[in-house]
Amino acid sequence: MVLEIVAILVCYLLGSVSFSVLFAKFLKGIDIRQHGSGNAGATNTLRVLGKGPAILVLALDVLKGIAAVWIGRWLGGDNEWLPGLCGIAAIIGHNWPLYFRFRGGKGIATAIGVLATLCFLPALYAGIIAISSIVFTRYVSLGSLIFVVLTPIFLLIAGYPWPVFWTSLIICIFAFWRHRSNIVKIVQGRENKLGSGGKGKD
Ligand code: G3P
Repeated sequence: MVLEIVAILVCYLLGSVSFSVLFAKFLKGIDIRQHGSGNAGATNTLRVLGKGPAILVLALDVLKGIAAVWIGRWLGGDNEWLPGLCGIAAIIGHNWPLYFRFRGGKGIATAIGVLATLCFLPALYAGIIAISSIVFTRYVSLGSLIFVVLTPIFLLIAGYPWPVFWTSLIICIFAFWRHRSNIVKIVQGRENKLGSGGKGKD
């Protein structure tokens, strides 16, 4: 039990490393949470810092999710719940980071890492539909929500174990909670579109 709690705490601390905040600080000397949409994530890094840093932030945030699941697998042994719990802990760290006054991102890149490691094919199919929706609408937030909704549906259909399903459902709930303001803006037609600059803070 102690080992499991340590694993979850380590993954929370890992998730708390907010790469968008660090990149913005070191590259431009700014707090990314005061710019663009105000979100500490890859999409806002693209707006504020450009393509190169955004791709790096995306990759590193995805890696946090992958690493968390592997930590859970490594320390959990036969425990089917620990990989998912470790993944959720990393997402919680990303969203509410200990090192940055608990003001982080929306957890999607880290969720991609977690879900792709736990259930690759359902996440891949959901990801393809999500990316298509982003290309079509240019709303990254909408694509993010489509991804987290479709993954649990697909893995339920494919018959994945219950711990994976519940993990993906909790990730989906977190994502909707963090995208509350995006949802309101989409409904009102005020949501930032990819490539439009995105000045409307959350
Ligand atoms: O993953 C975050 C994305 O869905 C929305 O980001 O900056 O447009 O609120 P943002």
